[in-house]
Amino acid sequence: MDFDRINKEEYSKQLRYFYDYYGAPFREDQGTEDILELINNYSSNGTLIDFGSGSNIYFWLIAFKNIEKVLCVDISKEAFFINEQIRKKEIYPKSYEYPLKKYNKDFNDVLKTNINYLICDVLCSSMNSTIKYNNVSQFGLLGLCKNEREYISNLEKLYDLLKKDGILLGANWCFSTSYSKKMGFNNNYLSEKIVQNFARKRNCKILNVKKVSIANDENYDSVLIYAIKHE
Ligand SMILES: C[S@@+](CC[C@H](N)C(=O)[O-])C[C@H]1O[C@@H](n2cnc3c(N)ncnc32)[C@H](O)[C@@H]1O
Repeated sequence: MDFDRINKEEYSKQLRYFYDYYGAPFREDQGTEDILELINNYSSNGTLIDFGSGSNIYFWLIAFKNIEKVLCVDISKEAFFINEQIRKKEIYPKSYEYPLKKYNKDFNDVLKTNINYLICDVLCSSMNSTIKYNNVSQFGLLGLCKNEREYISNLEKLYDLLKKDGILLGANWCFSTSYSKKMGFNNNYLSEKIVQNFARKRNCKILNVKKVSIANDENYDSVLIYAIKHE
């Protein structure tokens, strides 16, 4: 990818997100431990496509067991630029110390993972579903859908990229009342039920689904996490 023309404003926004969250020391009781465990327990070996990947692919990769190739998809080139800075060790995200210790990983090995980038407005595009993946993930993307109908139609799109026996991993942060006001919409349609109804309709197996409470974050009250197996 050509990182020549970086938009300074978007880069500052992405860098602020990075330092507010995964660039900072690991904070417990935010649901992050649960997402890491979800990945570590249920992900499959092989390929991964990560939607709304942003600047955080290396963090989640620490919890995966054996990923040979990743395609990161996001609307922001500037977020991908931050990944490149991490890869080149120009910046070191402090929160990584927690999963590196927990999963006994060497960061240099994680950085060797074959990663490709695709810029795409995922929520407004159709996907080429001829290429299938062992794992499909979205951590923080579909919760930006304005309503349940939009959430489900995007979830369908992502699910259709799975190989047989492939795993879909999701995490969506539920907005607090004040953050909903700031965003101009709420995502209180997020519930275990939305995932259960989806699994029934598509005849797939839920490996885990739960809502985890978040302590002391003014923007988020909880996070809905799930792993689904394509059958
Ligand atoms: C809350 S961040 C999550 C980033 C990362 N997955 C993580 O775990 O930290 C949401 C990400 O979704 C991206 N995004 C927002 N709208 C998008 C869209 N329509 N298509 C693709 N990516 C989008 C943003 O650029 C951002 O990187």
